[in-house]
Amino acid sequence: MEIFKHITPLKAFLREQKLKRRTVGFVPTMGALHAGHLALVGTSKNANDVTVSSIYVNPAQFNNTKDLEKYPRTLETDAALLEKVGCDVLFAPDNSEMYPQKATLKFDFGPLDKVMEGEFRPGHFSGVALVVSKLFHIVEPDNAYFGRKDFQQFAIIRQLVTDLNFNLTLHCVDTLREADGLAMSSRNLRLNPEERQLAIVFYKALQEARQQLKAGATVAAVKNSVRQMIEAQSRTRFEYFEVADPLNLNALDNVREVSQPILCIAGYIGEIRLIDNMFLD
Ligand code: PAF
Repeated sequence: MEIFKHITPLKAFLREQKLKRRTVGFVPTMGALHAGHLALVGTSKNANDVTVSSIYVNPAQFNNTKDLEKYPRTLETDAALLEKVGCDVLFAPDNSEMYPQKATLKFDFGPLDKVMEGEFRPGHFSGVALVVSKLFHIVEPDNAYFGRKDFQQFAIIRQLVTDLNFNLTLHCVDTLREADGLAMSSRNLRLNPEERQLAIVFYKALQEARQQLKAGATVAAVKNSVRQMIEAQSRTRFEYFEVADPLNLNALDNVREVSQPILCIAGYIGEIRLIDNMFLD
């Protein structure tokens, strides 16, 4: 695997690949890699000649400095994992490479970035859009791969690609789960054993909500019971549960308003913020 810390040699390498008419797949990450990330790399490898992954903990998308400081950084282990699954290129820049000067550009995605994560993490998606735009300009991939766990992020990047005419195809890859159903996430590394047990509540709440909605319960009633279920558990804090249209993330009052509603949930276990989602069907 080729490892680049700087943009110029990475671009030169990729230019050569493109001259040889090789297709490039791209998996952007913030590191602390788990099987979900490696599945994205595998999906890219199956469809592209060259797979590039990036590892960069992007300060612009953290609205909480403590969260940024504590975000797991495991570059050496991550590089070994990427190498093992046959990733061709790792781009691991530092802050001075990505932001040689303070970036002032802000993005506004209208209603898309005001709901759910947007409401609880103001500025987060502007920071994501900024770094993803930079990475797309640097790598110029043919295909880019993102996990479904961050469904709102995917919806926003889809809007970004359309609005800025990025010449690439986006792919949303299914969430990988632990044996008990917990969605794989880099943040899971920060859960202690007791918290790890408690963290399953979000998956259970989604499953319960799905069952109730399918049995005909109203969205309002299900919202109430999800909140109660989360709040009944110790060391657990509820942030939101929404039933939304997956295209524009509009909150639905009735699941029959769209053909495939998505259920989204977020909250804290101790100090660790977790999110998850599930389609109704
Ligand atoms: O999903 C992530 O890991 C990050 O938000 C991303 C897309 C790599 C941008 O920093």
